[in-house]
Amino acid sequence: MRIRQHVNPLGVHFEKFRGAKPRFVAGRPIEVEIGCADAQFLFERAVVDPDRTYVGLEIREDLVDLVNHKARKISAPVHAVFCQAQLHMPEIFGATVVDRVFVNFPDPWFKKKHHARRMVDATLVEGIAGIVRPSGEVFVQSDVWDIALDAMFVLESSGHFVNVAGEWSFWREGNPYGVRSWREQNAEETGLPIWRIMFRRS
Ligand SMILES: C[S@@+](CC[C@H](N)C(=O)[O-])C[C@H]1O[C@@H](n2cnc3c(N)ncnc32)[C@H](O)[C@@H]1O
Repeated sequence: MRIRQHVNPLGVHFEKFRGAKPRFVAGRPIEVEIGCADAQFLFERAVVDPDRTYVGLEIREDLVDLVNHKARKISAPVHAVFCQAQLHMPEIFGATVVDRVFVNFPDPWFKKKHHARRMVDATLVEGIAGIVRPSGEVFVQSDVWDIALDAMFVLESSGHFVNVAGEWSFWREGNPYGVRSWREQNAEETGLPIWRIMFRRS
């Protein structure tokens, strides 16, 4: 199947939520990856800790179908949801709270002229703040300095989170979750630097 490389998240096509909401089981912890692509990170998390629910939010519909097909085939507790994450998190989660939100290598949009298409902005951060439980974690990683800095700025200035590494500081202790996303694996294997940020919901 041919998967589109990028889609423009500002397109009107993405304004209305047309995805399928996962069913959440009361008391079962939830982890969310925003922009999950093939959901390698979530599938590996599900092996490490199968007693949680893993939700991937993704704007490329073909990838969502592939992830859900694989999850059914191997009976993994992973659910991808077709959405524009900035717009649709309240609709997907309602009053459900989650333990962790991961934003792994969020963007193809690192050029200045595409700034408005970036995923981690004040709207996304409000959406994240609306679903993470108190003390819940928000972990962001990027191999693009500008994107990592932008993400730190919006999280830090939102007033909803505490930076675990100290104000305006990157997290220097590596990825503590024991699994890697596809982009993370690729960045590590090709020797790219990775900037990481760890926040807790205040
Ligand atoms: C560079 S890829 C990284 C994929 C994966 N997280 C990884 O680390 O391998 C970023 C992903 O975010 C998705 N994405 C970008 N903007 C989005 C948005 N507003 N809502 C949902 N997904 C989005 C893209 O389609 C893409 O799959």
